[in-house]
Amino acid sequence: MTTYLPGFANHHASEAVAGALPIGRNSPQRTPFGLYAEQLSGTAFTAPRAENRRSWLYRLRPTANHPPFRASDAAPLLRSAPFDEVPPSPNRLRWDPLPWPEAPTDWLGGLVSYGGTGSVAEQTGVGIHLYAATQDMERVFFSADGELLIVPQEGALAITTEFGRIDVAPLQIALIPRGVRFRIALPDGRARGYVCENYGALFRLPDLGPIGANGLANPRDFETPVAAYEDSDAPCEVVQKFQGRLWSTTLDHSPFDVVAWHGNLAPCRYDLTRFNTINTVSFDHPDPSIFTVLTSPSDTPGTANCDFVIFPPRWMVAEDTFRPPWFHRNVMSEFMGLITGAYDAKEGGGFAPGGASLHNQMNGHGPDQASWEKATNADLKPVKLTDTMAFMFETRHVVRPTRWAVESPTCQLDYDEVWSGFAKAQVP
Ligand SMILES: [Fe+2]
Repeated sequence: MTTYLPGFANHHASEAVAGALPIGRNSPQRTPFGLYAEQLSGTAFTAPRAENRRSWLYRLRPTANHPPFRASDAAPLLRSAPFDEVPPSPNRLRWDPLPWPEAPTDWLGGLVSYGGTGSVAEQTGVGIHLYAATQDMERVFFSADGELLIVPQEGALAITTEFGRIDVAPLQIALIPRGVRFRIALPDGRARGYVCENYGALFRLPDLGPIGANGLANPRDFETPVAAYEDSDAPCEVVQKFQGRLWSTTLDHSPFDVVAWHGNLAPCRYDLTRFNTINTVSFDHPDPSIFTVLTSPSDTPGTANCDFVIFPPRWMVAEDTFRPPWFHRNVMSEFMGLITGAYDAKEGGGFAPGGASLHNQMNGHGPDQASWEKATNADLKPVKLTDTMAFMFETRHVVRPTRWAVESPTCQLDYDEVWSGFAKAQVP
């Protein structure tokens, strides 16, 4: 793995065989070793320079060399925008951890959609999925509908991609661009986690404003794989998600045949424990946007198609302050997950690692009663929050749950109760 910045500024080059990468031009008349030169676009050709993302791949066979795709049911609980199976619920929703599948299930087959927003046709919004898998993938997958932000919660993932291999474990994330083919093996035998399928503008690092040149997720900590390839003529099934549906074809070779590549569009990983967490050293606490790792902007400045926000271990030192997340109603919608430990706004339990919650636009939420009691009576010495890593996919669009999400036995029908025990304030 080598350092890589998800954004225009980084141009990266890697070759698995010395001399495989053309020098000085992208598509020479004759490439080294007769490799096929192929451009992979992440943005329109004419996107402004500061936004423009693409890579050149040099491979044993052109990707175009494949039979027709046919409809597939490879992931029976995977859903896609528009999410209109059931009316979008204003209710606050919370789920127990996603159960492990009873039959052997690979990462693709183990995807379960909880909800989403927007439109794959219009390239807006996100799909929000969890996965619980017990078997290595033999087939290969890609989404033509969006990039995939994968957040492992239990079990490592060994991800073979066209650009090389990425290994991630809980407390790390992987980001796989739209269209990039990959296959996931499970070194720990099983794996569970979360996925944000981003139909909109590519995730990038947020601007830092007055924070300055350093802080939050630092560019040097994003890592991309080095080129590696399979020279295999064995049949290989490739499944793609295209406009919300799955399609399958079988190649007579491995699609992981990229011998060299260069460009600024590539899969990468990031270790969440390297996040430079910034918070108050006086009173109150900043909005949770201070914890943004990556952002997918929308057409409205400062109003994200999706922010990926984490709540990492950190010192709490604010004076005369209610330190946990306060009560709030948000014009944005918030889908949360918990990777490990406990979340400081839910001392009362019910939000377990592998679980999830959804607080949609304008619906009040905040600390549960146990958290409120503890925080309002706490001795405000500096304390360190440890053993915790929650995250949020926060979006300007209302998250529309799937039928599975609202009808699953994991959906907690009593979630409203966590806010039911507050005594009335006494005004003299
Ligand atoms: Fe919130």
